[in-house]
Amino acid sequence: MQTKHELIPEPIGLDVDALARPLNWSDLFGNDHPVELEIGMGKGTFLTEQAKARPETDFFGIEWARWFWRYASDRLRRNGCTNARTVRAEANYFLTEFVPADSISVLHIYFPDPWPKARHHKRRLIQEKFVPVMHRVLAPGGRVQIVTDHKGYWEENVEPVIRAASGFEVVDYNRPGSAGAGEFVGTNFERKYAREGRPFYAIAAVKR
Ligand SMILES: C[S@@+](CC[C@H](N)C(=O)[O-])C[C@H]1O[C@@H](n2cnc3c(N)ncnc32)[C@H](O)[C@@H]1O
Repeated sequence: MQTKHELIPEPIGLDVDALARPLNWSDLFGNDHPVELEIGMGKGTFLTEQAKARPETDFFGIEWARWFWRYASDRLRRNGCTNARTVRAEANYFLTEFVPADSISVLHIYFPDPWPKARHHKRRLIQEKFVPVMHRVLAPGGRVQIVTDHKGYWEENVEPVIRAASGFEVVDYNRPGSAGAGEFVGTNFERKYAREGRPFYAIAAVKR
């Protein structure tokens, strides 16, 4: 029988119950490199490519779904990404409870769940009440990058919320080096949706 401990894909995947509050990134990674954080990394394509390509940066992934968290964590481990860590947690809660203020250089949010039904819109991650959560964890000059394929989410939440966000300035979106030709970021969902011919919407903003 597997114990809870054996279910944690260490050393990349961390047990949220065993973490310090607030986290100390230097203790966690053993260095003082800048930390980039991805919310909802799914199968971990973006995080793995970035962690491999940029060993001078530390990467942290938050994923709520246990299967995806285990898959992404194991993928990072198999690729020798010692500069990556992950946790299975709800992002709003984790950022608020565990992530130190002014400590993240880039917050990546790619293809967040759109919750298309009107009665579920309140579950969307990007909404006004999430702005201060992002603002607190980002370092001054730190950046948030968001990509979605969902027109409704973009028009109702992502674009108006980010454009109106106090303490942020909208800037050009940066395509990560790991994105393929014509891609915004190169995640599993982007590749799946691109095959279906869906348009994508991207925005970036920096903390003033
Ligand atoms: C549509 S998938 C996109 C996955 C990946 N970013 C990609 O583009 O391939 C959204 C992912 O975010 C995760 N997720 C959604 N809301 C979350 C939250 N509040 N906290 C942590 N993870 C979340 C889901 O479990 C899912 O794996």
